[in-house]
Amino acid sequence: MQLIQLLSDGKFHSGEELGDALSISRAAIWKQLKKLEKETGLTIQSVQGKGYRLESSLSLLNSQNISPFMSQWPIYLLNTTDSTNKQAFQLLTQNTSPPFAVTAEQQTDGRGRRGRRWISPFASNIYYSLLLRIDRGMQQLEGLSLTIGLAVLHTLKQYKLTNAGLKWPNDILINNQKIAGILLELQGDPADICHVVIGIGLNVNMQKTAEQTTLPWTSIYHQTGQIIDRNQLIITLSQSLDYYLTIHMQKSFTALKEEWEANNLWQNKEVNLLQGEQQISGRMIGIDNTGALKLQLHNEIKYFNAGEVSLRLAPSID
Ligand code: BTN
Repeated sequence: MQLIQLLSDGKFHSGEELGDALSISRAAIWKQLKKLEKETGLTIQSVQGKGYRLESSLSLLNSQNISPFMSQWPIYLLNTTDSTNKQAFQLLTQNTSPPFAVTAEQQTDGRGRRGRRWISPFASNIYYSLLLRIDRGMQQLEGLSLTIGLAVLHTLKQYKLTNAGLKWPNDILINNQKIAGILLELQGDPADICHVVIGIGLNVNMQKTAEQTTLPWTSIYHQTGQIIDRNQLIITLSQSLDYYLTIHMQKSFTALKEEWEANNLWQNKEVNLLQGEQQISGRMIGIDNTGALKLQLHNEIKYFNAGEVSLRLAPSID
């Protein structure tokens, strides 16, 4: 067993016990613990007479606990990687047949929307990329990221997070704090055959982060006070993605539009849209069949696509 697995229970383990388990000396254990801290960013406490322990217990990814339950598509488990989105495209160039998913314990270069970084600490959250082949170009891509938002939301509701909701185009928020984000990246001709990687970042057991964040965030742990089994969560998420993607591919996003609007946190709210330097204010009255935002202005309705704009809630005037 690996050192990290031995420590993952969050309890004290003496240097002697760890050394015996790995058949190495106590001095070698100490060296390995330092290396582990450096590689993972975890803090390992050392207490005289008691031994070593992690600040809190960890739910580690384990392919034996995931792969047998993945009937939808195979999943590749990585330890440390730059970005699971990037690795999914990498696997495609190595002739891995889609659909397939890639997940990792940590990302060193997690990508967010609008060129932002996605904070991806070791063994804390879910970093999941699903690579799909798209045959009917634009028609299948329309509203796809909103469909994924519904799948992630459905997963969170299975974990009793009933106050989670959607922020157009594809953020999942609880009390105005971000719990999940979605980043779609495309390769090929979107008008014909192409490949899309659906990247999902879901804050699960994250308790704190030293990194500066642009937006307030939360995690399942923050909401429930419980450490979640990430293997089970990956299975639940995959099932949910399969369910919503089947509807999307067979019937198009139109079939999910109503459900999306019913979960829209800002439905009928006054919002500000930022289009480059320009700010447009209006009431969000919903979305259209392609997932474009529908904004009620003074005397007209205008539609906006996700790539063009970013959305803010208008400050309320008291
Ligand atoms: C956002 O900015 O809201 C989108 C965040 C998407 C993050 C996920 S984590 C898994 C996948 N790999 C990446 O590098 N990014 C996505």
